[in-house]
Amino acid sequence: MSGEGVESDTGNALQIIIAGAGTMGHGLALLMAKAGHEVLLMDIDEGILDRAIKLIEAHLSSFVEAGQLDTNMISEIVGRIRTTTELSAIKTQDIIIESVPEDQDIKRSFYEKVAILCSAETIVASNTSYLDVFSLAPAFIQERLIITHFFEPPYLIPLVEVVKGPQTNPEVIQKMRKILLKAGQRPIIMEKFIPGFVVNRLQRAMGREIFHLIDGGFVKPEEIDKAVLASLGVRIPVLGVVRRYDFAGLDLALKVLSNPSIGLMDKDTVSPTLKGLVAQGYTGVKAGKGFYDYHGQNLEQIYEKRDRLLMRMREVIEEIEKVMWQNPQAYEKT
Ligand SMILES: NC(=O)c1ccc[n+]([C@@H]2O[C@H](COP(=O)([O-])OP(=O)(O)OC[C@H]3O[C@@H](n4cnc5c(N)ncnc54)[C@H](O)[C@@H]3O)[C@@H](O)[C@H]2O)c1
Repeated sequence: MSGEGVESDTGNALQIIIAGAGTMGHGLALLMAKAGHEVLLMDIDEGILDRAIKLIEAHLSSFVEAGQLDTNMISEIVGRIRTTTELSAIKTQDIIIESVPEDQDIKRSFYEKVAILCSAETIVASNTSYLDVFSLAPAFIQERLIITHFFEPPYLIPLVEVVKGPQTNPEVIQKMRKILLKAGQRPIIMEKFIPGFVVNRLQRAMGREIFHLIDGGFVKPEEIDKAVLASLGVRIPVLGVVRRYDFAGLDLALKVLSNPSIGLMDKDTVSPTLKGLVAQGYTGVKAGKGFYDYHGQNLEQIYEKRDRLLMRMREVIEEIEKVMWQNPQAYEKT
């Protein structure tokens, strides 16, 4: 899935601004620089930019350790990333990927400034998780405004949910799709905006049931993970969640889904278990404890282990794509 050294339609590497160098932004900078583009990483905080470059170098070392990158490529890739706190640097770029905090006012103010500074050709892509950015941005960037919702860490998780706005030019969608494919990503196109897009909506629906099962004392958290790993974990990569119905039989699916006896959770509730853990400071890996205990491992080791396994999973998924997709062109790197 590597998109290293790939050039744009025009034969040149693109000039891409990543705005916001936080959790997502630094990973997006890595992804685009690894794909051969010139990246300008922008943040309002100089310290965050410094940290971003250090993190990018560390993540690239993991690729080297996994045998997926030559050591000498690290300096070449990092060399394609410049950093700035100056908004005025925006004007000459082909694409701006906005990854500033998920706050309506911050995003609105960013778009207003960007709209004035960028050229009439610049594609503006938002990495928002659920905000309707089309209603926040000024009228004259609407034709080239899209949502590109990446997943953390974006240099390892290939999905990008690309969402059309009411006035988005279809050529902008196609251009972005090609750029993402060339960078090794797996874009899907959404015809219109819905908060949470596909995957976060599915995760949210699952979350309702997960906390219902935990809070109700039906099963311990680790047992849920073990159950999913040994069933959906094996099946979903091969069959997805829709094709799976074809294999189960649509007649059976109709029967099961028409039967109300399971009585699923149909609303979000504040989970007392979750509330209790947060109140004790157990906020997950960053605190050394969440549902699981991570003491004895530092954060780098935890992420390194995760990333190594994700890299191997990607190789397997790539093989599955080739075998299971009836249309082999579906993911063609055009
Ligand atoms: N964290 C995730 O897992 C995840 C996944 C997918 C999408 N997202 C979305 O990505 C976006 C960024 O999320 P994050 O988790 O990286 O947030 P973050 O808080 O880690 O990073 C945001 C960065 O933006 C900077 N910033 C604030 N105002 C700015 C401005 N005007 N110009 C440039 N930089 C500015 C902040 O200093 C900060 O470093 C959000 O819209 C979020 O919903 C996050």
